[in-house]
Amino acid sequence: MKTNVILKAVVMVAVVMASAASLIKDGDIIGLSGFTPAGTPKAVTAELAKMAEDKHARGEQFKVSVLTGASTGDSCDGVLIRANALDFRAPYTTNADFRKACNNGQVRYSDIHLSQMAQRIRSGFLGKVNVAIMEACELTADGRIYLTAGVGISPTVARLADKVIVEINAAHNKNSLMGMHDIYELERPPHRRPIMIEHASDRIGTPYIQVDPAKIAAVVEVNIPDEARGFHDPDPITDKIGQNVADFLVNDLRKGTIPSTFLPLQSGVGNIANAVLSALGKNPDVPAFEMYTEVIQNSVIDLVKTGRIKFGSTCSLSVTNDCLQDIYDNIDFFRDKLVLRPSEISNCPEVVRRLGVISMNTAIEADIYGNVNSTHICGTKMMNGIGGSGDFTRSAYISIFSCPSTAKGGCISSIVPMVSHQDHSEHSVNVIITEQGIADLRGKSPMERAKTVIENCAHPDYKQLLWDYLKIASKGQTSHSLSAALGMHEVFLDKGDMRLTDWADFKK
Ligand code: COA
Repeated sequence: MKTNVILKAVVMVAVVMASAASLIKDGDIIGLSGFTPAGTPKAVTAELAKMAEDKHARGEQFKVSVLTGASTGDSCDGVLIRANALDFRAPYTTNADFRKACNNGQVRYSDIHLSQMAQRIRSGFLGKVNVAIMEACELTADGRIYLTAGVGISPTVARLADKVIVEINAAHNKNSLMGMHDIYELERPPHRRPIMIEHASDRIGTPYIQVDPAKIAAVVEVNIPDEARGFHDPDPITDKIGQNVADFLVNDLRKGTIPSTFLPLQSGVGNIANAVLSALGKNPDVPAFEMYTEVIQNSVIDLVKTGRIKFGSTCSLSVTNDCLQDIYDNIDFFRDKLVLRPSEISNCPEVVRRLGVISMNTAIEADIYGNVNSTHICGTKMMNGIGGSGDFTRSAYISIFSCPSTAKGGCISSIVPMVSHQDHSEHSVNVIITEQGIADLRGKSPMERAKTVIENCAHPDYKQLLWDYLKIASKGQTSHSLSAALGMHEVFLDKGDMRLTDWADFKK
């Protein structure tokens, strides 16, 4: 890693990383640029972790709070949590060490809808932002910050922070990136103006963030590649899920419930989301489409190249480094096909509802009535967080959740009588899809939904168990046995396999 003192910006204080990190004090609230590892600063946070370790070794207290757009890379969440330098963190993370720390109570973690993060900060709900750290590809003397591959909450934290530290990362191609962003910050209520986005490709803001140059306390120059993760190769299960999602959409298109021009798609993160998009791209009956989404992964870029995706509006290019380089090298092709927006715009329910976005997210588990758990394993252990799934699901034209019908070698059924934690309710979830099939829940009563979900989505190993659950459930609009509803989870925690559930062990 290379660190240089910047000499070109005369109005700015040019420093090396250690001095930049030393601007941050115990108890500070830090706001970061980026969304996923894309666009997240990497050098000052790593230095901050070292500083925290040194202070702890000297018996001094040192912890900070970190506010971001979404997840970050290991050089942020990973190093800071291992250094025990985090007091509070919001709104989403995927880091394994952080996951352990939040589940054992080492850090206070608040899992927040990503679209709401900037507004909550602006409103003062999360305290005063002391320092903003922005990863940039260019900074001008009059305080224009040109971001890199992710935006997140950057405009808000850069404006509100007392001090701004800018990491200029030469790993990004500024000639390609400048102009790709559309920066627009919402006003505080009441009487906020509408967000004038009527097409995924509409631009409403500026290509840079403007800050008061007097607030720029440090500029560091680095050359560090992004930390985006690669994907597992698709397997027969993810392929089948992708195929089922594509079949569902084609069927709705044929019925005319989706207009023939198609509708913009949102797609979540992870292996399943990547496989779903690949399947949609390959299906000749799905017309070329647009994305209005928060994260663009490799599969989207491949489909832009083949013309299957016409435009991608996103908050970040969360792609592998070779894919990012491909975009930079071919920017003349990509320039009018991509836009990077702040998370309060990319995920804005107002825009999602107006555009008629079809949302496609991944569930950890779904229950027979259509409630979805995206965040907690067996009701207690945080996995990652809700991310943007709630922003899109609640306002989508059609909201789809998919997942494999089982997890952990078949010992867990992803279809359960009652979710052990609820992120998305039956009122917002329209369709559940597994490799077994499709449960279209629209226009169905709870009992009709239960039958469709069990019949179409549950794994054969669990179907009879779920039918038997309905037999022991107390009858009502939504039939349940309150003592047995979480019985399959209890049996898994006790015996390691949900298939060993015997409803006779539970009181009615
Ligand atoms: N019980 C226990 N573990 C489960 C489970 C269940 N019902 N379902 C899945 N898992 C485990 C898997 O076994 C896997 O564990 P591993 O990492 O030890 O192998 C892990 O959860 C991830 O599951 P996987 O099937 O690989 O799916 P994924 O990578 O697509 O991630 C989510 C699935 C739900 C964790 C992920 O999509 C997520 O964090 N979603 C919430 C945020 C979101 O939806 N954002 C959308 C907008 S971008």
